[in-house]
Amino acid sequence: MASQLVKKTACVIGGTGFVASLLVKLLLEKGYAVNTTVRDPENHKKVAHLIALQNLGDLKIFGADLTNEESFDAPIAGCDLVFQVATPVNFASEDPENDMIKPAIQGVHNVLKACAKAKTVKRVILTSSAAAVSINKLNGTGLIMDEKSWTDVEFLTSEKPPTWGYPVSKTLAEKAAWKFAEENNIDLITVIPSLMTGPSLTQDVPSSVHLSMSLITGNEFLKNAMKGMQMLSGSISITHVEDVCRAHIFLAEKESASGRYICCAVNTSVVELAKFLNTRYPQYQVSTDLGDFPSKAKLAVTSEKLVSEGFSFKYGIEEVYDQTAEYFKAKGLLN
Ligand SMILES: NC(=O)c1ccc[n+]([C@@H]2O[C@H](COP(=O)([O-])OP(=O)(O)OC[C@H]3O[C@@H](n4cnc5c(N)ncnc54)[C@H](OP(=O)(O)O)[C@@H]3O)[C@@H](O)[C@H]2O)c1
Repeated sequence: MASQLVKKTACVIGGTGFVASLLVKLLLEKGYAVNTTVRDPENHKKVAHLIALQNLGDLKIFGADLTNEESFDAPIAGCDLVFQVATPVNFASEDPENDMIKPAIQGVHNVLKACAKAKTVKRVILTSSAAAVSINKLNGTGLIMDEKSWTDVEFLTSEKPPTWGYPVSKTLAEKAAWKFAEENNIDLITVIPSLMTGPSLTQDVPSSVHLSMSLITGNEFLKNAMKGMQMLSGSISITHVEDVCRAHIFLAEKESASGRYICCAVNTSVVELAKFLNTRYPQYQVSTDLGDFPSKAKLAVTSEKLVSEGFSFKYGIEEVYDQTAEYFKAKGLLN
């Protein structure tokens, strides 16, 4: 009985982010004590939502940078669970090697080293990405990508398609995590989400939410980015951010869980998504004329492993977009 009353402590790396901030909230609501790290605790705009979450429970905010090994010692000391969510994201970078790839790998090493040092950490959950799974030369259609699939880094670094640095950083960071965990006997789980959307606790609207809404808002740059995503990744795969956070906690708590877990609610294509949005929200007059752009996705990423572990998704495509549209209205970004 007594042990049930002892609060477990979880550390969430990167609390200013879209995913991490909701993860912090769900953990507090489940009764965890939470330590979260942010790069700059003095940046009021970025930490305001975390300070507001302190009303929900025991939440401590620490300063830490992925490139600074020692900075993770204090927030991770004494923790039972560690969620490594943070990653450098800079799609416009002209130097992806130094802006994304190196710091992502270094960050994984620094966080895992602190976990090994702490000696209290039972499990580490790393947020990877479908971008670490599905990108390769993609011959054929109807492909199903599961946890055995890895993105082809050689293809990306030799051909350098737009935004190549991000998938390379996610793939190499996840591989580095697996290697370090095996060598240091760390219980590691990786969660592999698709594009995430839904309401955010952060002050700014996250870039992935803007991207997911581009067919509704008509932002041409982001609509082209969606097309680029389908061409590079093989599909438009979407999940509600809350389901991804729920999956993180589910896997952290599920003793039998091991390895990689894809977390994706819906696999579709730009054309199919445009048709769906046009029918569901006639008021936004979503254009379904995408010229000769391929109407079908080449592949689907499957969450069968996660579901067979006992996880169920709360939100389908209708709820995902209903909630995101409401969020955009509340932010004054949609009439
Ligand atoms: N959003 C998606 O659609 C999506 C899809 C698949 C996978 N993912 C993965 O999910 C995770 C969270 O993504 P997100 O959408 O929540 O991104 P986000 O809102 O951009 O958050 C990224 C976080 O990483 C932190 N960070 C960046 N560089 C750092 C550094 N050097 N040291 C410490 N922290 C650093 C950022 O801190 P600052 O606020 O200080 O910049 C921020 O808190 C990432 O691992 C991402 O690859 C996201």
